[in-house]
Amino acid sequence: MGVTAIFNQKGGVGKTTTCLNLGAAWLREGYRPLLVDMDPQAHLTLSSGVISRSGLAAFFQRGTPLLELIQRTRGGWNLIPATPELSKIDALQGSNPKAAGLLSRGMTDEIRGKGPVLLDCCPTLGVLTLNALLAADGVLIPVAADYLSMQGVQRLDTALHVLERRLHRTYRRCIVVTRFNSRRQLAYEVDRQLRERYGEQVCRTRIGENAALASSPSQQQDIFQYAPQSAGASDYAALARELKSSGFLEVDC
Ligand SMILES: Nc1ncnc2c1ncn2[C@@H]1O[C@H](COP(=O)(O)OP(=O)(O)O)[C@@H](O)[C@H]1O
Ligand SMILES: [Mg+2]
Repeated sequence: MGVTAIFNQKGGVGKTTTCLNLGAAWLREGYRPLLVDMDPQAHLTLSSGVISRSGLAAFFQRGTPLLELIQRTRGGWNLIPATPELSKIDALQGSNPKAAGLLSRGMTDEIRGKGPVLLDCCPTLGVLTLNALLAADGVLIPVAADYLSMQGVQRLDTALHVLERRLHRTYRRCIVVTRFNSRRQLAYEVDRQLRERYGEQVCRTRIGENAALASSPSQQQDIFQYAPQSAGASDYAALARELKSSGFLEVDC
């Protein structure tokens, strides 16, 4: 199945929340998602309730096969965790011209065959994120429904175009509007402008601002465990269905 990088160079837009709850939604639909924590802040790992001494950094530093780093979480999804060592990768691998392709080469057919792979990126376009983008079939871009996030998505789109020209390929892109506050006029305006500019690349499903989504990580639970009746749960279930039916999960041939 497809490898999806969840990326936006702006922090706090819902990358990790989307990775976790999209993975959890697909798990409930019978898939076996593999979530990869590519952010040294390790929020995905913490939210999954995993405490680990070994994680993705071992792959970059010592060549440990990715398969050996997969852990099953309490929630049921598979996770390659992040550890504090991951923060050194940009400094250690930054001067290695082959470093950006390491993850792509490490994603064996066995890993890709397990189920959808979701890469939870950090908010900078450094070596780790380049690895994610080179390994990915598609990019999912969470954009919070506020003014600065709207500006950020243009920069990201430009960066992706540059990468596409260099790699002679195109990325399947999906923009998902997150943290949508229906009581704010600005949220509707951002949503309208995104749809006007990016058309069908913007998911029909919007993720609303929802208190349960913000508090579920403190219990190391996904939204379906923590508050199955919440608007957050129904939003992420709808997003999972939409991405599945639009073919976003399929691998490009
Ligand atoms: N739809 C939402 N409603 C309410 N809080 C949210 C929502 N999405 C994310 N959050 C909260 O906002 C903060 C940032 O979200 P996060 O997913 O960690 O963003 P990122 O990974 O892009 O930095 C977290 O505290 C998270 O719980
Ligand atoms: Mg994050």
